[in-house]
Amino acid sequence: MDVTIRLARPREAAIVHRILMEAYAGYRGRIVPPLKVFESTPLTIAADIRARRHAHALAFVGDEPVGTVRCTPWRSPNGQLRWTLSRLAVLPEFQGEAIGARLMDWMEERARRAGVKQLRGHVRTALPFLVRFYQKLGFRVIGYRSCPGHPRYLTVIGKHLV
Ligand SMILES: CC(C)(COP(=O)(O)OP(=O)(O)OC[C@H]1O[C@@H](n2cnc3c(N)ncnc32)[C@H](O)[C@@H]1OP(=O)(O)O)[C@@H](O)C(=O)NCCC(=O)NCCS
Repeated sequence: MDVTIRLARPREAAIVHRILMEAYAGYRGRIVPPLKVFESTPLTIAADIRARRHAHALAFVGDEPVGTVRCTPWRSPNGQLRWTLSRLAVLPEFQGEAIGARLMDWMEERARRAGVKQLRGHVRTALPFLVRFYQKLGFRVIGYRSCPGHPRYLTVIGKHLV
């Protein structure tokens, strides 16, 4: 499948939002605590891109936008540049064609060029197949996060870049 990937512009925020809502629809009402992605809107996504809080990549098959992933740069306490990758999503009818893996690889390549030392991600512990998906891409489990009533609800994954 001929897939091209590039960063989304602020005016494409509604496209990113639509892909997220379609891809995550199956988790709505089934995952607790609810996924924060459901609080996002085209306006919040556009504002995040403009403020450079987050960058969103878009994957296209031909002219059709079919997938997205978000990147959030930050510095560890020792000054190391890290990127958190999140909100990976592929439209249901395009899943299983390695578009998700290609989006992750594309962000990883950008991270290497930017001198990023570690990639991070957060996966719902209740969705173990996703942890396995990221492990196949070279991530490993580095910890868990808890909140009141939901011990270890998040699995923290990481990948060192050399
Ligand atoms: C996760 C997601 C982005 C993967 O995109 P994709 O293009 O289908 O991924 P790929 O084709 O590269 O890889 C497919 C892998 O997805 C995993 N997977 C995705 N959904 C799955 C499900 N419901 N059950 C089991 N495995 C699943 C499998 O590990 C599969 O690996 P396999 O090919 O060895 O079977 C896509 O399924 C999606 O948008 N899901 C909904 C949103 C989501 O869960 N995002 C990740 C949040 S951390």
